[in-house]
Amino acid sequence: MKEIIFAATRSDTIIAELKRRILENGAVLPGGVLRVDSFLNQQIDMKLMRDIGAAFAARFHLFHPDIVLTIESSGIVPAGQAALALEVPLVICKKQASRITQAELYETNVQSFTKGTSYELSVSKAFLMPGARVLFIDDFLAMGEAALGACRLIEQAGASLAGIGIVIEKTFQPGRSKLDSLGRPIFSLARISSMSEAGITWAE
Ligand code: G4P
Repeated sequence: MKEIIFAATRSDTIIAELKRRILENGAVLPGGVLRVDSFLNQQIDMKLMRDIGAAFAARFHLFHPDIVLTIESSGIVPAGQAALALEVPLVICKKQASRITQAELYETNVQSFTKGTSYELSVSKAFLMPGARVLFIDDFLAMGEAALGACRLIEQAGASLAGIGIVIEKTFQPGRSKLDSLGRPIFSLARISSMSEAGITWAE
């Protein structure tokens, strides 16, 4: 709890550091894609992730989440750090059902506009309990289809969505407006309103 209160006082600094890393180490690719594999998607800056997790915990601890839910693979590290700070379990939605476990699953189909494919998103019924307050955290908010898929799993389980935490939101894509309709708090750390090879503009 002491760490959470401390993080609340540092949230602005954490956001400023994330933005600095995006500007310094990110690369804007054609098609509105931001490459951040040197600190978020492949090589991971764990100190930054620890701070990001603490900032999410500071924002959402008053909603008393019972679990943090994310989607494999790139959501796992920031969501895991938030779960650690909140001292609750991390639960991971899978894009491919495990062939090892024969667990009963909640499942939903998700369209990926970026990749032009669809996949079955699933989570074990054993880990998403009816009545649980769920904080959903992911690395990117783009089209919002992955997050909406996770929210459908929460609904299927009879659990409730406490809030949504996003590391990088692209406000020029329609994800936010789709999630706003859920009527739950959304907290994005870095919000990009436009980007090109010439630079990145932050949304207010
Ligand atoms: P959505 O997740 O918001 O619905 O959008 P979409 O289906 O278009 O996203 C497909 C994948 O691309 C997701 O990861 C999403 O996190 C990622 N993504 C979207 N925009 C960007 C971007 O600008 N930069 C980067 N680096 N990733 C982006 P995924 O396919 O599920 O893969 P992963 O989580 O295993 O990395």
